[in-house]
Amino acid sequence: MSKMTLVFTLLFGMVAELGAAPQGSKPSLDYQFFKSKVQPIFLKKREGRARCISCHVTPTGPVFRLQKLQPGETTWNEEQSRKNYEAVTTAIAFPGNAKSPLLIHPLAEEAGGDLFHSGGKQFPSKEDAEWQTLRAWVMGQTSSTSAQAGTR
Ligand code: HEC
Repeated sequence: MSKMTLVFTLLFGMVAELGAAPQGSKPSLDYQFFKSKVQPIFLKKREGRARCISCHVTPTGPVFRLQKLQPGETTWNEEQSRKNYEAVTTAIAFPGNAKSPLLIHPLAEEAGGDLFHSGGKQFPSKEDAEWQTLRAWVMGQTSSTSAQAGTR
């Protein structure tokens, strides 16, 4: 192999690796944190707004679909929570991305959110405690109770 070819091969290898890295080592969002702190936000009724679960629900909800609760059920079981986690992390929450739709779509435009959400601007500002919980999760905070961060 000539020196040139060698350099080329090495370079190409590096580029290929760079391209592949985000997928291979994709950071994951903490499941326990999602289950205990994020999910309740989807269930909560806010003044003048419908609950997230009223619209974002299987089988017909827009963009991301939460599992349907049966009458009498107040929260999701383990299996349903896993499915919710899957739905949310696939569609609207991306690890470390502060512009994830989950963060900017339900946030008031004047507070840094985007223009319009059919479900209303549920969080008036970034000071909102629930919004901060969502952000902390997207930015990689893990549940303090789970020793094995990153497991799902
Ligand atoms: C009244 C029904 C309704 C409610 C309540 C609702 N949404 Fe939505 N949401 C929609 C619809 C319809 C869309 C798709 C069209 C749009 O973007 O407005 C959507 C889209 C979204 C998107 C996707 C944005 C994108 O571009 O990918 C996110 C994120 C979202 N909603 C989050 C929430 C959260 C979080 C809540 C609760 C705090 C919530 N929604 C409550 C109806 C609702």
